[in-house]
Amino acid sequence: MASNALAAPAAGQYVPAAGGPIISLRDVVKTYGEGATAFQALKGIDLDIAQGDFVAVMGASGSGKSTTMNILGCLDVPTSGTFLFKGVHVETLDRDQRALLRRKYLGFVFQGFNLLARTTALENVELPLLYRGDAKKERRASAMAALDKVGLADWWDHTPAELSGGQQQRVAIARAIVTSPAVLLADEPTGNLDSERSVEIMELLAGLNRDSGITVIMVTHEPDMAAFARTIVHFKDGLVERVEAQHRAGEVPEESPSRLREGLGEGLSASDGPSGQALPPPSSGSDVPPAHPRQRGALSTPNSQAGGEK
Ligand SMILES: Nc1ncnc2c1ncn2[C@@H]1O[C@H](COP(=O)(O)OP(=O)(O)OP(=O)(O)O)[C@@H](O)[C@H]1O
Ligand SMILES: [Mg+2]
Repeated sequence: MASNALAAPAAGQYVPAAGGPIISLRDVVKTYGEGATAFQALKGIDLDIAQGDFVAVMGASGSGKSTTMNILGCLDVPTSGTFLFKGVHVETLDRDQRALLRRKYLGFVFQGFNLLARTTALENVELPLLYRGDAKKERRASAMAALDKVGLADWWDHTPAELSGGQQQRVAIARAIVTSPAVLLADEPTGNLDSERSVEIMELLAGLNRDSGITVIMVTHEPDMAAFARTIVHFKDGLVERVEAQHRAGEVPEESPSRLREGLGEGLSASDGPSGQALPPPSSGSDVPPAHPRQRGALSTPNSQAGGEK
């Protein structure tokens, strides 16, 4: 199997450091609408996210956090600029290829949980595996393991209405991690929860980041929640204002693994995402998205560091 996850880019292209960013945004612009009504939500984001980092994205309402999250999650495309994921130029992928990247490498958690109402916790968590075509037995085993990781193994046969908000968000997190994604994107995951439940969710995310190596990118308005992250990216008016490194309690201080290049940056945007479904149905055809010609094979290598099972 090819192992050059960060295949050599052509001359003049941004070159990620070895073992460096899993995500790089360069001069990313997002414009909504056209002509006189055009609105530039992102004005040129330049941001690196290191593999294994836990990033909190903060900033005023409308600063572009959710817009950026949607781009990182391949739910939307930038108007211009470069988005490298594991060395692959995502902006060159077509819709199906992006869907495949999303399905294989990304997990989502939204403020509103987005669980299927009349469906048990187990069946909700199984959904991404159903889309992926896993056999029933494997689906059940993987989904139960994911529920166990979020502390809900005993609640597998309960529907969302029979679960508290915090428990519903745990189910949503189990659904997001059941495919062992490299990156977990969470847009205000504690926005609907009280502070006690919020802290529990943050401890869960921090534990997954620490134990599974999954890269976590989370939007929050609350400094208490951002304190769980190792890096804080501050957005302002469609730009990254600054990137702040911090160390968590009990951790040896170290330089933040994510860094910002000067002058750019935009935030993550926070739509509530697709309702009802965790992921879109799989695209047909090859299981591996054809990479950019210069990057061919880059996506064919499973992420060996992030997202692995414990
Ligand atoms: N589909 C859209 N069409 C037009 N404008 C949009 C669209 N989505 C977002 N915007 C605008 O882009 C800007 C950034 O929105 P975004 O949702 O990214 O902000 P945010 O930082 O996530 O805010 P919040 O903290 O309120 O969630 C806002 O001014 C918003 O009105
Ligand atoms: Mg938002």
